[in-house]
Amino acid sequence: MDVIETLTPNACFIYPKSDENFIIELEGLFLDYSKNKITSETMQRLLALARARDLESARDHMFAGHKINSTENRAVLHTALRAPKNNSVSIDGENIMPFIHEGLDHMKEFSDKVRNGTWKGYSGKGITHVVNIGIGGSDLGPKMVCEALQDSADTNISVRFVSNVDPADIHSALSDIDPQTTLSVIASKTFTTQETMANAHAARAWFLDHASDEKQLEKHFIALSTNTEAVKKFGIAADNIFPFKEWVGGRFSVWSSIGLSICLSSGFNSFRRFLDGAYAMDEHFRTAPLEKNMPVILALLGVWHRNFCDHESYAVLPYYQRLESFARWLQQLDMESNGKSIDQNGHKTNYHTAPIIFGEPGTNGQHAFYQLLHQGTSIVPCDFIGVIHDEYNIGEQHHILLANLLAQSKAMMEGKPQPEEGKPYKNFDGDRPSNMILLDKLDAHSLGMLMALYEHKIFAQGILWNINSFDQWGVELGKILTKDILTDINTPQNDVQDASYRTLLRHIHKKLA
Ligand code: F6P
Repeated sequence: MDVIETLTPNACFIYPKSDENFIIELEGLFLDYSKNKITSETMQRLLALARARDLESARDHMFAGHKINSTENRAVLHTALRAPKNNSVSIDGENIMPFIHEGLDHMKEFSDKVRNGTWKGYSGKGITHVVNIGIGGSDLGPKMVCEALQDSADTNISVRFVSNVDPADIHSALSDIDPQTTLSVIASKTFTTQETMANAHAARAWFLDHASDEKQLEKHFIALSTNTEAVKKFGIAADNIFPFKEWVGGRFSVWSSIGLSICLSSGFNSFRRFLDGAYAMDEHFRTAPLEKNMPVILALLGVWHRNFCDHESYAVLPYYQRLESFARWLQQLDMESNGKSIDQNGHKTNYHTAPIIFGEPGTNGQHAFYQLLHQGTSIVPCDFIGVIHDEYNIGEQHHILLANLLAQSKAMMEGKPQPEEGKPYKNFDGDRPSNMILLDKLDAHSLGMLMALYEHKIFAQGILWNINSFDQWGVELGKILTKDILTDINTPQNDVQDASYRTLLRHIHKKLA
């Protein structure tokens, strides 16, 4: 990409430290990006890159429903899911807003019934346990949000998440609960994903072991999917299907009916506030000038780190225990979207794309991998995320947490001003970049904003890198091989191809015999 090749770092490797030019604030969400090695000139040059890539038009095309997912010929409209009812968004001449709002009405009606006890199981008892069975975007988003909002959740209903095909996962979820009071939510965009289907069949068998009559499934199994035919074949009643459309990508699907577990756990009003928070960020992304546009600035800084400073990884460090699964959610969002090496013209890129994302909540990460962040040979840019108000008021623990947050970002930038004579191992060079994102408080609205911020950052980076952020062909080969290998595991054969594979298979067969 010419622009990336020609934008060479100049005298940019200094920190502006604190400067209000490097701060953006929006509805209780505060971004300080002054701890990056940038000057105003660096930012001007990066903004020129965004303009040269025509980021604004690309963004407008996404919001307008153009089929920007070129390899699958699909629109990308998770933004429409959070827009108000009176908006109009069309695909192939059809306004999709009525479909979205009918879906939301259905989610409200159903979740209200389950939560107020009018939805009864086959033996007349109310629902006490919800088991969400899904993987990837059909798991990570709703799980992370349910955990984040758990303090405002209904304590009469406990929501569990099963994703792994490892039987231990479904076993743990079902072994101590009562099928009479359990609702299984099968969450799968395609309704063909091997892991989810295996777990869904296991849950069905477990239920029928107790209930004995297939008719009783209708009070205990619901599906969130685009593939209504496959859902019906599985035996789920038509009224129990919460459909969405192929223009919602899996990793962007928490805003669709895939978010039903959030409604069941925290209530529909909370889900609506979550959508509204994301909508506030959508409007900011859509209308703010590029130089004051949070997702755009984060995207440009990410490109700066990856392509100009050659930093290979990126850490996301939420200082808030309720965001325990945030990094895992972001890993899929970022790495599945932008972990690509073929550009939109079908050519291999000669520049890097997505970094390796990892993270843990502070302060736990400090006692695990921060050693490398401070003194390792690789520089890892970080996003620190803090929450100013907490819910618990337990001693001064929250202030200790905030002090740790500020201390870490300061240490990364400044290092230790006075090195100890003769003890180089105690030195901290500092000089390590980070962003600070502060939320006034964590609630459904601010969480929606935060998640949409990262979604748009990733979209903007896809445009800057000239890649399609909305397909995921890199996951296909493993899926195909698994099918053949399953046959080899079940039916021993002698003519298996490569030597390493043959050895492993023989070893497994010997042990299984
Ligand atoms: O891992 C590939 C993927 O297609 C993800 O993009 C998706 O979120 C996940 O599998 C689950 O897919 P589905 O919701 O169709 O079961």
